[in-house]
Amino acid sequence: MPTPSEPMPLFPPGFLWGAAASAFQTEGAAATDGKGLSGWDAFAAAGRIKGGADAARGTGFHDRYREDVALLAGLGADVFRFSVSWPRVIPGGSGLVNAPGLDFYDRLVDELCARGIRPAPTLYHWDTPLPLDEAGGWLRRDTAERFAEYAAAVAGRLADRVPLWMTLNEPAEVTLLGYALGEHAPGRRLLFDALPAAHHQLLAHGLAAQALRAAGASRVGIAVSHSPVWTAGDGEDDRFAAGLYDTLTNHLFSDPLLTGAYPDEDIAALMPGPVAEDLAVIAQPLDFYGVNYYHPMLVGAPAGEAGGALDSFAGVGMPEGLPFGLRDIETAEHTDFGWPVVPDGLREVLTGLRDRYGKRLPPVIVTENGCSYEGTDDQRRIAFLDSHLRALHRAAAEGVDVRGYFTWSLTDNIEWAQGAAQRFGLVHIDYETLARTPKASYAWYRDMIAAQKRRE
Ligand code: NOJ
Repeated sequence: MPTPSEPMPLFPPGFLWGAAASAFQTEGAAATDGKGLSGWDAFAAAGRIKGGADAARGTGFHDRYREDVALLAGLGADVFRFSVSWPRVIPGGSGLVNAPGLDFYDRLVDELCARGIRPAPTLYHWDTPLPLDEAGGWLRRDTAERFAEYAAAVAGRLADRVPLWMTLNEPAEVTLLGYALGEHAPGRRLLFDALPAAHHQLLAHGLAAQALRAAGASRVGIAVSHSPVWTAGDGEDDRFAAGLYDTLTNHLFSDPLLTGAYPDEDIAALMPGPVAEDLAVIAQPLDFYGVNYYHPMLVGAPAGEAGGALDSFAGVGMPEGLPFGLRDIETAEHTDFGWPVVPDGLREVLTGLRDRYGKRLPPVIVTENGCSYEGTDDQRRIAFLDSHLRALHRAAAEGVDVRGYFTWSLTDNIEWAQGAAQRFGLVHIDYETLARTPKASYAWYRDMIAAQKRRE
């Protein structure tokens, strides 16, 4: 692996450098200015997040956003990817728009523009309004329709200044962790009965993309997680297990979005409602396709008595009886979260998408990539970012049309059920004082961006 001291190869002119974050993970202020509760607020209050008190305060972003925008400006970032909290804007999930909630995003967008940073909001980064979650959340078609109304309200206010929009973040994780395994809000453990949650999120995306365009939004995309799925073992049952896992976590989402079809008819048959009509809505033309990449998955047949299964996903235990087993990638280094570090997996994901979808794949932006490490002299984060950017450059050299890279994350933040325990930031957060301290990786990213721009 090249060392960070070798110059980073040049990305194309106009390449967008940025950092990403989300509302629930940073804002705090869960009941300020008329904000309604989200399913995640309730999950935290129920003690389902490690150190739930921190989750309620987040990083204090709602009150300290100017400080964080100054940090972005100091990086030389072109873009800030943040998310809008649906229950801050529509506290009840439907009906009345909470003007003071929208005012917050109006101020944030103005502050970003004043600093020359393009605002790139995601409309749904997992914080469903609690009343909608309590009524069944993404298991209900109604949630998709309410989401489109919310999208229209946000775009009506911000579209004049926002050049890049994302509808949803990682519908696969919401489906898997929130509805199949119950480790994330709303804590449902439905296994394969979670599939309707995938369909309704996809429908929500399509309806919201239409609503955004109708409100004059410019470029519309979505942020989808992708992991290369590697087969463990060489048996037929291993190949079957890995193929199924790949379908459920990758193609279940990218195929409908980019081709207007589910990856196979058996899956389509399990989806609710007028599926063919919905697919036509889901496959809205996209201006860019956002890819969140963290690591590959090594998957084989369930290990059973033989052992050897990792049996965890993102630190989450997998129930017995699933038709696949997850294995550790023992040859890789691991982050403090225990995730394998495999930079070339990013190239593999991007060239794989290009090969599968050809001209149907819009320009790609890496909307998230990063790692959890302790400490402020975070040389391992620097090595992680450096090696992943080189892999991204290889993908571009192999013909993938890559237009930007947003690292996860600007600051440490609440890592969902893990709470404050996993630190993904370029900037350290002291959760007692909420003081921000740039880490070594902040300076490295700033210098790398500056070097890219000097050579443009
Ligand atoms: C993906 C999610 O979008 C983000 O919210 C999360 O913090 C990172 N992955 C790291 O797990």
